[in-house]
Amino acid sequence: MRALVRNPSAARLPPQVEVVRGDLTLPETLDSGLSGIDTVFLVWTAPADAVAPALERIARHARSIVLLSAPIKTAHPLFQQPNPLRAMFEQIEQQIEALGLQWTFLRPGMFAANALIWWAPQIRAGDVVRWPHLAAPTAPTDERDIAAVAVRALCEDGHAGSEYVLTGPQSLSQFEQVSIIGRVIGRSLRIEEISPDEARRELLRIGPLPAVNMLLQAWAAAIGQPAHVTSTVAEITGAPPKTFLEWATDNAAAFQPCNRLRSGYA
Ligand SMILES: NC(=O)c1ccc[n+]([C@@H]2O[C@H](COP(=O)([O-])OP(=O)(O)OC[C@H]3O[C@@H](n4cnc5c(N)ncnc54)[C@H](OP(=O)(O)O)[C@@H]3O)[C@@H](O)[C@H]2O)c1
Repeated sequence: MRALVRNPSAARLPPQVEVVRGDLTLPETLDSGLSGIDTVFLVWTAPADAVAPALERIARHARSIVLLSAPIKTAHPLFQQPNPLRAMFEQIEQQIEALGLQWTFLRPGMFAANALIWWAPQIRAGDVVRWPHLAAPTAPTDERDIAAVAVRALCEDGHAGSEYVLTGPQSLSQFEQVSIIGRVIGRSLRIEEISPDEARRELLRIGPLPAVNMLLQAWAAAIGQPAHVTSTVAEITGAPPKTFLEWATDNAAAFQPCNRLRSGYA
């Protein structure tokens, strides 16, 4: 198993993983990581114009590809707002299909780990969490469940041509998710609704404007109906998906003031 990263010295990967340097936007840097590899797990976090050259390099080496995509075909308002990221995933999937490789598309909903970026800085700094669209429900997906499905798709036969929509087991509003974190760390958090316009200014610290707008539109559209919940994780791994309470318990240290400099995942 080999991992391609931009900065090997910052990669925190298990010792049995070979780490090589590469950048998805520089196709010539991908060959050393791809040499001798037959299956690729692709986490695409680069701009859209780099997709075609990178896939062309991958297709020279690999015979199958597992893509970490998103639930872009799921008919739930949370996932159906037009945005540039959605268009990019449509483009990546079409290009992978056209390459003639075997493929599997993983379609996780909101990652539970988003809480580390969205709420942990506020909770480490004090007892007030200010956030928009607190009534919006999602089914936070534990990254370990996404990884468990990815391992099956990469290592087992029978997943070619499959599209797996992966979610956590429960529909929880954003207010409920922050409350669960407060309960786990034993603190009484004050959770305050802020307007989308105020949030748009503040959330620019966590991502570029198109990504912030995508989130605000998705949450606004999701209010009023439960989040989309699937049983796919259990069907593929044989184990139930982890609850947000389990995720928060295992990541509680990231929300404690004394861990301000730590950003570790459980
Ligand atoms: N977050 C969610 O709720 C969610 C839900 C569904 C799907 N997804 C999808 O899942 C994927 C991962 O999401 P995420 O939120 O974990 O993203 P993220 O936090 O933005 O991930 C960034 C990672 O990508 C690496 N990276 C960035 N540009 C790169 C490049 N040019 N070449 C190689 N590596 C590069 C970064 O490496 P460095 O350490 O070098 O910066 C970092 O490890 C994305 O495709 C996202 O669209 C996310």
